[in-house]
Amino acid sequence: MRPIIATGTDTGIGKTVFAAGLAAALGAAYWKPIQSGLDGEASDSDTARRLGVRDVLPEAYRLTEPLSPHRAAELDGVTIDPARLTLPDVLGTLVIEGAGGLLVPVTRTLLFADLFRQWAAPAVLVARTGLGTINHSLLSVEAMRTRGIAILGIAFVGEANEDNEATICALAGVRRLGRLPLLAPLNAGSLAAAFAAHFRIEDFAA
Ligand SMILES: Nc1ncnc2c1ncn2[C@@H]1O[C@H](COP(=O)(O)OP(=O)(O)OP(=O)(O)O)[C@@H](O)[C@H]1O
Ligand SMILES: [Mg+2]
Repeated sequence: MRPIIATGTDTGIGKTVFAAGLAAALGAAYWKPIQSGLDGEASDSDTARRLGVRDVLPEAYRLTEPLSPHRAAELDGVTIDPARLTLPDVLGTLVIEGAGGLLVPVTRTLLFADLFRQWAAPAVLVARTGLGTINHSLLSVEAMRTRGIAILGIAFVGEANEDNEATICALAGVRRLGRLPLLAPLNAGSLAAAFAAHFRIEDFAA
């Protein structure tokens, strides 16, 4: 089994869309270990399925409120047991999506970045292209390096911003994997076409 983590500079920046595009392109399984927020919008697992991922594994925890997992669990009266957050054993590649960004608490004593470190899996940092992304991206890369999380590279999401993308990758010394443009409509077909056009599958296959 080959795990690849899809993490991001923030919540709501396109991790699920990127992770679904990657998993579909690789024929990989997708796993969202902790889903927070069950009302309203589709879960990330539902979205991944809608966007063309065939093998979506069940979440370890599904929490009601759209909050950081540590708090959402408390409000549900659930104790998150890190022992239940070991990587599932699948054949082939597994794309794993965290919640929010790297320093989001899983519990009051465990951050997502700690889990990524324990899993010893390489991570793609998903980042916006617009104003504010240089700071968020460089902070995220520092946090990954501090914890010894291997960085596959940065995948941007949004309208092209050549200087932001180039500046981040040069200052951080990380690979620029590509950029997913904003897709309308966003569906399995448009995502597969955009992923093929804007990323090189070899960058994720090694
Ligand atoms: N390339 C894209 N084209 C069109 N819409 C997009 C694209 N990427 C993301 N979006 C939209 O932006 C919103 C946030 O994206 P997404 O759910 O992937 O973020 P996320 O980082 O996974 O958030 P979370 O932290 O909640 O898991 C969604 O409504 C999604 O449909
Ligand atoms: Mg998501």
